[in-house]
Amino acid sequence: MNLNKIISELKRITFVVPRLPVRAQIEVTNRCNLSCKMCLKLEEGTYKDIAFENFESIMEQLSGIQILDLTSWGEPLLHPNFVEMVAYTSRKGIEPHFATNGTLLDAKMQKELIDAGIKGIIFSIDVVGRKSGEFFGHPPSKKVLDNLESLLKFREGKTPRVSISTCLYEGFADDLFGVVEYAGMHGVDGVNILRVDIGSSGEIKRYSWEEEQEILKEAGEIGKKAGIKVWSMFEAYRGYRKWVYRDRYLCPQTYDSIYITHEGDVVPCCKLSKLKMGNLFENNLSEIWLGDKFCSFRKNQLDYCGKCDIFKYRYKEWSELERNILC
Ligand SMILES: C[S@@+](CC[C@H](N)C(=O)[O-])C[C@H]1O[C@@H](n2cnc3c(N)ncnc32)[C@H](O)[C@@H]1O
Ligand code: SF4
Repeated sequence: MNLNKIISELKRITFVVPRLPVRAQIEVTNRCNLSCKMCLKLEEGTYKDIAFENFESIMEQLSGIQILDLTSWGEPLLHPNFVEMVAYTSRKGIEPHFATNGTLLDAKMQKELIDAGIKGIIFSIDVVGRKSGEFFGHPPSKKVLDNLESLLKFREGKTPRVSISTCLYEGFADDLFGVVEYAGMHGVDGVNILRVDIGSSGEIKRYSWEEEQEILKEAGEIGKKAGIKVWSMFEAYRGYRKWVYRDRYLCPQTYDSIYITHEGDVVPCCKLSKLKMGNLFENNLSEIWLGDKFCSFRKNQLDYCGKCDIFKYRYKEWSELERNILC
């Protein structure tokens, strides 16, 4: 671990807003080749790819961050310059990562991405081995599993890191356990369990918070037996920060990450795409990240985020005292 990483890790633990975000997520495309029921992607007709020249200009502003997640609401591998963007990120000394539905990650693409310096690939898989019935998440696909298994054999050592991200829906805990077992059997590096954002869907439901705790515990035990790491929003932080999030229910996203739209707007999160904190063609990253708008957003995040608890331990109203002490 180099000195910068040690300092930024200390800041993460002690809950100081770091000098720059640790991680940025960039909107590469919002086009997709699937239409998963739970997905909150844009309405048809508003689909766009980031222009490669815009990507290059934005990258000039990102020096100093550690991770670039080239993922948004859409399938990143549909962007015609995706491999070039990964290579560009890597050359800048920033770790490129992305999440994918896995349908297009064939052997040729795997080789190109590894040559380009990809550091982390997340396969979004919500069900394996079930062929019928209702799916709210990514539908089962043999092709995706074949692509995942061939990547695990093809990579050298543990680079890129290959993990699975899976969403939990009410009534579908067995599918989630199946995904963890599958990941253990095939040597996946870990499974991240996401709390589903039900958006405006009346169909998709979540387990109660207490049921969720039990399911996550069981998934963790399955993972332990299989020798793989299973984590969720509950395991995201350590030390003092973990205590703060557990007891005060702040959103960790707003202290480490930014989301960048295809037009260079910086917003706090992929769900707040209109809440512009600044634009990377007009302001530098540090001005935006430590600027008044971002500070005010952090202080008043419940007013902007409503009851969103996707990355939090648990949603809770704040008292005035909590608001004053914490922000
Ligand atoms: C929006 S997708 C984009 C990348 C790629 N197309 C994929 O499916 O992985 C990124 C992640 O968001 C998750 N996701 C989609 N809809 C969600 C929702 N309503 N709540 C929580 N996570 C969601 C997906 O499961 C996926 O892991
Ligand atoms: S979750 Fe990913 S694969 Fe599914 S529709 Fe959304 S962007 Fe496409």
